Amino acid sequence: MEMKRIMAAGMVFCMGIQLFCACGKEQPDIEDKVYLGVAYYDQSDTFLNSLIACLKDEIQDYEEKGYETAMLIRGAGGSQRTQNDQVQELVDAGCNVLCVNLVDRANPSEIIDLARENDVPVIFFNREPVTEDLMQWDRLYYVGAFAEQSGTMQGELAVELIEADSGVDRNRDGKIQYVVLEGEAGHQDAIIRTENAVDTLKSNDIEVEKLSYGIANWNRAQAQNQMLQMISQHQNKIELVLANNDDMALGAVDAYEKLNYTESALPVFLGIDGTDVGLEAVRDLKLAGTVYNDKEGQASAMLKLSVALVTGDGMDKIGFEKERYIYLPYFKVTQSKAEELLKRKNP
Ligand code: BGC
Ligand code: CA
Repeated sequence: MEMKRIMAAGMVFCMGIQLFCACGKEQPDIEDKVYLGVAYYDQSDTFLNSLIACLKDEIQDYEEKGYETAMLIRGAGGSQRTQNDQVQELVDAGCNVLCVNLVDRANPSEIIDLARENDVPVIFFNREPVTEDLMQWDRLYYVGAFAEQSGTMQGELAVELIEADSGVDRNRDGKIQYVVLEGEAGHQDAIIRTENAVDTLKSNDIEVEKLSYGIANWNRAQAQNQMLQMISQHQNKIELVLANNDDMALGAVDAYEKLNYTESALPVFLGIDGTDVGLEAVRDLKLAGTVYNDKEGQASAMLKLSVALVTGDGMDKIGFEKERYIYLPYFKVTQSKAEELLKRKNP
């Protein structure tokens, strides 16, 4: 039976089970029920998993406020083709709003066509489609954050550290030798974060020398490997590691730990995201800092917009940029802020 199959697939179910299985369009008052279909690019991504956990909390809150809700979640294992099929499945299951974290952010056409044919609005999140694609239909939205801002803030953290501690320039040559660990090629957050971080150092009159970079696809193990190679090439010369996210910054730390480097010989590591593991590492001074990617704010905006799209109520209260975009601000995190954020989570 279809119901059993869906349940077995591990869906998060709140209410309205009977209704959910029927074809959404035949339900007379479907507008009152928020049936959210969530599709995301890869189940192994630390940041996305924690963002999805926030979405679960949010939908629970709406449930407690008396809305009838249900949420189906599908991870695509890095395949756009799989994701297209999953979105079809979510639409067939009766979802009346979709939150899609594209695998290939340059390739949303099939999903847009499908949503449009079934008149199901789509909120893209975290992996930003190009504007032309978002303009293909007026029920397409985006929730995310400004990549530029995170890069600039990471650069500012580096400037603050370098100005406060002359020991960061370990060989005392007046320049900061750095390496970069980059996320996926083609992701809006990868190149832009790097460029803005480095530009911020330069515009603050810090002399920098780029020794190397490695693409590690947001992944901790890949970052460790890339870092091991860079260390074997440059030995003790590396003074600063700029990573496009926390998992890759932690992979760099792993590489040095594997090689048994003493603390005084370590470079400064900076990440972005403020995932739980990232915050713990900042608290423990393994990472010098990170930039908080506001997953709680993003999840809250996605749910608010989902409810408004389904019920037709509350759209005027949402602060859009460029009519269809919602960007949540980043903020900088060093040790005391990390402690505060962790305490807030586990009081
Ligand atoms: C996050 C990364 C994540 C990526 C996935 C970025 O915004 O910083 O941690 O892997 O999104 O799309
Ligand atoms: Ca130096």
